Amino acid sequence: MRLAIVGTGTVGSSVAELAGEYGHTVTAMANVEAATIDPDGIDVEAALERQHEGERHLGEADPEDALDAEYDVLVEATPVTLGDAQPGFGHVTVALERDRHVVLANKGPVAERYGEVMALAEESAGEVRFEATVGGAIPVLSTIEDYGPGTITAARGVLNGTANFILSRMASAGLGYEHVLAEAQDLGVAETDPAFDVEGTDAALKCVILANVLTGSDREYTLEDATVEGIKDIPESALELAQEDGRTIRLIGEVSGGEIRVGPRLVPEHSELAVTGTTNIVQLETENAGRLNLSGRGAGGPETATAMLADVGRLDPL
Ligand code: HSE
Repeated sequence: MRLAIVGTGTVGSSVAELAGEYGHTVTAMANVEAATIDPDGIDVEAALERQHEGERHLGEADPEDALDAEYDVLVEATPVTLGDAQPGFGHVTVALERDRHVVLANKGPVAERYGEVMALAEESAGEVRFEATVGGAIPVLSTIEDYGPGTITAARGVLNGTANFILSRMASAGLGYEHVLAEAQDLGVAETDPAFDVEGTDAALKCVILANVLTGSDREYTLEDATVEGIKDIPESALELAQEDGRTIRLIGEVSGGEIRVGPRLVPEHSELAVTGTTNIVQLETENAGRLNLSGRGAGGPETATAMLADVGRLDPL
């Protein structure tokens, strides 16, 4: 497949780096403010080198130009925005209207404008896939697709690697909140705006996407339907007290009975939900087969790129 990548941060760069291993070609690459296009094939090495040197702007052209290049799949990896989900939603619209496939890491379009995205996909010869938006490398959405969304009665789990890293590191190493947040940012797992992670918004967006996928066209969910509490105000003493009691605190997201809730919860120290570091876990309650635990790396460049490239592999040639 020929890939046009919009968004050249941690995720977009990783897709460019790994695409060749999967037999794909990157024909265009643009960051959200500027673009560089070479229809004969981008010089990915040079772009990445500049990126690693800290140059985020790869050219002067408008990112829309990347969408004019020759490509089969638009890889949308720009940062999430709330409300109108722009410019991500615009990129999705342009690609689908041109009958191209879209693979998203950006949660905005499918969390904030799910119905519109599905309607655009319905009219297009292209397909839209978004495995990378929930749980990083973990195949959560494709598992739901395989089982059939109607057979899953609830979903819950640890859905934000940054918050989980902070909570587990504060508890195990006795380090302060600000210190471990900086460590998470160094790891490249935090969002561009880490408030999204620590205030529970990122986990809530993932739950909204899960709710939309589980519900299908029966009802559309957005962030406004979620009850959200973050981890910023949890004192170190609360983690210590929990530990004395054989428990720990995790930021848990839950989709059940038409409700979406995200917040810090006490969980037994040895429970499946007490994952550590940037690990995510998603528990799917199935109608006929009990609980399914899916866990793995929920954030990071190569991890998210792996989910995106798996999505590319699921697409039919145009
Ligand atoms: N910032 C997110 C996290 C990245 O920490 O889980 C994946 O959405």
